[in-house]
Amino acid sequence: PMREAGLLLRNTSMGPVTCDISPDSRFDCALEKLLSQGECEARGCCYVPVASEAAGIWQPWCFFPPSYPSYRMENQTATETGYTARLVRDKATFFPDDIMTLQLDVLLETEGRLHFTLRDPANKRYEVPFDTPQTSGQVSSELYTVKFSAEPFGLIVQRESNGRVLLNTTVAPLFFADQFLQISTSLPSRFISGLGEHLTSLILDTNWTKVTLWNRDMAPTPSANLYGSHPFYLVIEEDGMAHGVFLLNSNAMDVVLQPSPALTWRTTGGILDFYIFLGPDPKSVVRQYLDVIGYPFMPPYWGLGFHLCRWGYSSTTVTRQVVQNMTKALFPLVGHWPLAGKLRDFTFNKAGFRDFPDMVRDFHQDGRKYIMIVDPGISSSGPPGSYKPYDDGLKRGVFILNATGKPLVGKVWPGPTVFPDFTNPETHQWWHDMVKDFHDQVPFDGMWIDMNEPSNFVAGSLDGCPSNKLENPPYLPGVLGGSLRAGTLCASSRQHLSSHYNLHSLYGLTEAIASHNALVRVRGKRPFVISRSTFASHGRYAGHWTGDVWSSWEQLYYSISEVLLFNMYGVPLAGADICGFVGDTSEELCVRWTQLGAFYPFMRNHNDHGNRVSLPSWDGTTLGPPLRGSMLMFLFSLPLKRWRWGGLAWRRFPTDPNTWSIDRQLMWGAALLVTPVLEAGKTDVSGYFPLGTWYDPMMGSIIHSKGQWVLLPAPLDTINIHIREGHILPLQEPALTTTASRKKGLTLVVAPASGGVARGDLFWDDGESLLTFEKGDYTKILFVAANVSLGDRGELVDGLLLQAVSVLGVPSPPQRVVVNGVPVSDFSYRTDTKARGGGVPCWEQFVITWS
Ligand SMILES: *[C@@H]1O[C@H](CO)[C@@H](O)[C@H](O)[C@H]1NC(C)=O
Ligand SMILES: *[C@@H]1O[C@H](CO)[C@@H](O)[C@H](O)[C@H]1NC(C)=O
Ligand SMILES: *[C@@H]1O[C@H](CO)[C@@H](O)[C@H](O)[C@H]1NC(C)=O
Ligand SMILES: *[C@@H]1O[C@H](CO)[C@@H](O)[C@H](O)[C@H]1NC(C)=O
Ligand SMILES: *[C@@H]1O[C@H](CO)[C@@H](O)[C@H](O)[C@H]1NC(C)=O
Repeated sequence: PMREAGLLLRNTSMGPVTCDISPDSRFDCALEKLLSQGECEARGCCYVPVASEAAGIWQPWCFFPPSYPSYRMENQTATETGYTARLVRDKATFFPDDIMTLQLDVLLETEGRLHFTLRDPANKRYEVPFDTPQTSGQVSSELYTVKFSAEPFGLIVQRESNGRVLLNTTVAPLFFADQFLQISTSLPSRFISGLGEHLTSLILDTNWTKVTLWNRDMAPTPSANLYGSHPFYLVIEEDGMAHGVFLLNSNAMDVVLQPSPALTWRTTGGILDFYIFLGPDPKSVVRQYLDVIGYPFMPPYWGLGFHLCRWGYSSTTVTRQVVQNMTKALFPLVGHWPLAGKLRDFTFNKAGFRDFPDMVRDFHQDGRKYIMIVDPGISSSGPPGSYKPYDDGLKRGVFILNATGKPLVGKVWPGPTVFPDFTNPETHQWWHDMVKDFHDQVPFDGMWIDMNEPSNFVAGSLDGCPSNKLENPPYLPGVLGGSLRAGTLCASSRQHLSSHYNLHSLYGLTEAIASHNALVRVRGKRPFVISRSTFASHGRYAGHWTGDVWSSWEQLYYSISEVLLFNMYGVPLAGADICGFVGDTSEELCVRWTQLGAFYPFMRNHNDHGNRVSLPSWDGTTLGPPLRGSMLMFLFSLPLKRWRWGGLAWRRFPTDPNTWSIDRQLMWGAALLVTPVLEAGKTDVSGYFPLGTWYDPMMGSIIHSKGQWVLLPAPLDTINIHIREGHILPLQEPALTTTASRKKGLTLVVAPASGGVARGDLFWDDGESLLTFEKGDYTKILFVAANVSLGDRGELVDGLLLQAVSVLGVPSPPQRVVVNGVPVSDFSYRTDTKARGGGVPCWEQFVITWS
């Protein structure tokens, strides 16, 4: 029940200004520019220089005193769903256009979710156009309590079980001006992750870090704002409990982290719309977040295979040769992306690619797929009547407009281009029509949407941008390039729903929605869309690759955090370009990257034209792709239960603090631990093993861990994987395509816990029909091993034959193995503990025993 909710009055009769605040706990008052002492004090702020600045550490010299004027709360009332109140400020701030009265709505939405908004009651402001879940009435929660500070206004959320303060916005003054909204909170711990997309470690640095969100075409570089925006963070508290906070706001923003620890949101528009997720464990936080933004789409089975791509295959002849050569090296391929239509969307180069449609049909014949690249910029320079996407789009009014109401013209690969406005419903219909027209010529299987931040090679437009308050906001977040238009469109250009200023970071998301829906309509099958730009909720429609990563060991390491974080953002289908995209790779780096890449949910090798070919020259069997091929079935079975809940992470062990910041290993679900080599010249690697028994299915070794670091041998042909005790993995023999590997026999690898117990499950459907999960058109098999027997809950799985069972950790060689009462001779025992039985149809219940 909502105990103690209500007013918490503080006596704030303005005494003398207190400036005695330790540097770590100061909230910066010189927000938008450096201030002299005089300018600082003119704002009513404290000016106290910090000596440690000499050591190169930035700390605020000009900061808010605790008594700094803010809003005060009036007329707080309880409603059916929570509380409402008015916030009033008497004196304007140093930003223009303060909104002096605000409406506060606090909604106690579910047991684990609190929602509050601050709006202008007098004027409707821009809000992110999301369908967020509706609530029925006030929910009582055992998880949290809400309190308020009336003057200065603050909202305080505490964990009910232990009283811990998770959120306290009283710590610094609230700003709500037209183009500057700021709210701060204390944090209960420094273990904070999220606020993507950036090149970072898993845990953010709270030592005065400014994190900027504004989607941008930028090769991943530390501190720069990158392709996507996910204004969501997760904090692990000192005892392993966790909470999360989502600010539903799409404007350019900074988030400042400071060591007290505390966090400040500074956004340049919209409203303050916060969701607080109370967990109490990290996995629940992610589930509660996904309840709001939506659950990931289910990719087609083939989409999980190994994709190969290179910018600059010059003809279908070369492309066919690449496929042939890869096949010879036993690299299984599913998708192949030759980038034939790079320059103008929905076209292909008739010279080198005359037989392009036939090539794609041949790929299909061989069980392969073809993904088409599309950039949003539509070439606008041809003579009228020469390019249908432009002519048709112009007629249908689908492009973003400039200040004079004409389509804004920028510049991308094909030269002058206009930009579809995917917030306009007509644009979705037009996009579908273009996709369908091209699909009628070339039966591609999926879409790769690139350059959709959107990227623009000129700042704003070919005609520049007007000078107005959207182009020059009073507070400019730390965006790369020093202006909102850098690398993209004019902020004041006009879209159907609002200005680009408000909608910019939603561009990739809205294009992903249009592409997802177009593919569903055109192909009638599960869509496959991979996008560079993303925003919260992207995972409902598409996956993500991490853009133009460098071929470097550092970026190999960062790719793990990126994949783990995108999993937390509800975009599980994510991966980095294997071997790196920019610059020449080395054979060693490429081998290590391919080994790790086999465990990215989205596995693709892709590199830039002009670079040395980025594939190891030696036999593919020792590398990741075949391993990946054998694990597809297992990977495919993860989403329903675990991808959906963010399983690719260390959050599995919240009570083991050693695991919180690990970002050099990753897990698939709860069963599989991957320990890659991330440095040059290494033949061993140190990995952390949480408490329990871990089996190496390749080497047969067993680790009984007390929760410790273990040094593992890792010569160049080895990637360390371990199965956690108590799990059964369904594996298949790899093949050269996913179409073929789907038909291979099933092997169960059993990693028993003490007492011989293990379980695992398999989700199986036709791999590409729509809504199989929703319609119940699938089979789920539960495998249970108890002591010395192994049996399933017999259900029909078309043609899937159980070919082998490997049981790890059998202490001594069995004399006899019996399958369904019949002794089998075809079993073997290795010192690395492997017993085999062969050829049982999966659709019947079976029992294997040995003695
Ligand atoms: C609070 O309620 C009183 C009485 O209805 C009203 O006069 C006052 O304007 C309200 N305050 C605000 C900020 O709306
Ligand atoms: C919230 O922050 C204010 C300002 O720092 C502080 O005075 C107050 O004690 C805090 N409240 C709680 C419950 O921690
Ligand atoms: C933050 O900076 C201070 C000042 O140099 C330093 O003492 C401290 O160790 C740093 N903390 C972290 C977590 O890096
Ligand atoms: C394919 O392999 C052959 C023989 O090694 C080689 O000559 C050719 O250049 C390769 N083709 C491509 C596109 O890599
Ligand atoms: C808008 O676009 C048109 C056509 O490209 C151009 O002539 C005009 O100058 C642009 N207006 C502005 C304000 O950039």
